[in-house]
Amino acid sequence: MATIPAEATEPAGTREGILRGMLVEFDTPGQLIAAANRVREAGYKRFDAHSPFPIHGIDEAVGIRMTILPWIVMAGGMFGLLNGLFLQWYTNAVDAESLSLIPTFLQGYNYLVSGKPYFSLPANIPVIFELTILLSAIAAVIGMLVLNNLPLFYNPVFNVARFRKVTDDKFFLVVDARDSKFDARATDELLSGLGGTAVEPILEYPSPSALPRPFLTLGVIVTLVALIPPALIWKAWVSKSSKPRIHIIQDMDNQAKFKDQRASVLFADGRSMRPPVPGTVARGDLQHDDHFFRGIVGEAWSTTFPLHKLPVDDALLDRGQQRFGVYCAPCHGLTGDGQGLVNQRAIELGGAWVPPANLHEAQYRERALGHLFNTISNGIRSMPQYGDAIPPADRWAIVAYVRALQRSQFATIDDVPAAERAQMPSAARPAEATEE
Ligand code: HEC
Repeated sequence: MATIPAEATEPAGTREGILRGMLVEFDTPGQLIAAANRVREAGYKRFDAHSPFPIHGIDEAVGIRMTILPWIVMAGGMFGLLNGLFLQWYTNAVDAESLSLIPTFLQGYNYLVSGKPYFSLPANIPVIFELTILLSAIAAVIGMLVLNNLPLFYNPVFNVARFRKVTDDKFFLVVDARDSKFDARATDELLSGLGGTAVEPILEYPSPSALPRPFLTLGVIVTLVALIPPALIWKAWVSKSSKPRIHIIQDMDNQAKFKDQRASVLFADGRSMRPPVPGTVARGDLQHDDHFFRGIVGEAWSTTFPLHKLPVDDALLDRGQQRFGVYCAPCHGLTGDGQGLVNQRAIELGGAWVPPANLHEAQYRERALGHLFNTISNGIRSMPQYGDAIPPADRWAIVAYVRALQRSQFATIDDVPAAERAQMPSAARPAEATEE
């Protein structure tokens, strides 16, 4: 049934082209698979199947084995991982002074970030992760191209006219002439016996090795054009000019505006920033309530809460506890004993350090409420001020909570309402402790 063209059966070497392989054409994918199995069993290794669409099972038939690409990707990923780790360790954790032999621009630089260790894995993970992914991806793309011999712009099989049908409705098996078992006559016989519709040699017609003239001309032109940008950059580099540079894009460099802290000829005082008009107050900034805004009553620190502005209730204490946790606990600790994390870390690092006050000491318990309020607003001795970060109502909430904290450490049985004393565990009732 196979209609084999007569010229395909004669020794291919007699034609003027060089024999690069041999192909056989089929009508159905089933025939292609069967043929691939036969060719593989005959001991051929360098052959390939071509089809208009993917065919299930063709990989096994052609004898395609698992690729080593996953291993290449893994190697790329591991390289990225170790590189990310090394880079961050070297740049931040290596003591530059011990590297006197290495030029400065290649040395790392100890940079302390928020008191964290120089080498801190949690902080390093994002970069390590990104480099692992990046290098895996690059290894995958390059590995795939190399393993597939890509990019490949030309294949001698393109010389066979009938091969064009491979994108339409024909199926081809191509045996490469470089296969050690390839033999013009024997291979032809094998392929002819496969039941295909045609067997044809694949011929390559040698082209002249000299580059065509237009290519040369084009190459020279492209090279010359490519030299223009670097030449312009070089000229800009070496030439000096007193004129302002040409401003092609009128960006924000040339805005008509006054910048902060700059001189201005427009105003008599020569300043571009305008001070508020004397005797005026910005809207909402009129803070005439000394009790609420400054913790002062009359001439002294207030000993009461500004109840006319806010009630002291559970909600205020809850707010105070929450704000204390945010603004005060890092230094003073959650219980106010002065053992916050900042303090612990500062002691670990050594050096001069004024520890945060233990708010349970008698002197601080006896401070007036207004004094506490003022400490938060304006800071005290080594403690920074928090007035600009915490609104006055929240400062009072913190004051209330600090008072509650202080009482919690010095409570006596008398602080518990009589009705609830009976429900307390016996150990907490000193008078009756021995009963059970
Ligand atoms: C950055 C660390 C730090 C933070 C945050 C901080 N403090 Fe202090 N605080 C200190 C230090 C240090 C002192 C002791 C200052 C000294 O003796 O020089 C101190 C002292 C105090 C005192 C005693 C002052 C006195 O002599 O009467 C009080 C009360 C106090 N802090 C309350 C607070 C409250 C409330 C907050 C939260 C709004 C707060 N602190 C936040 C570091 C801090």
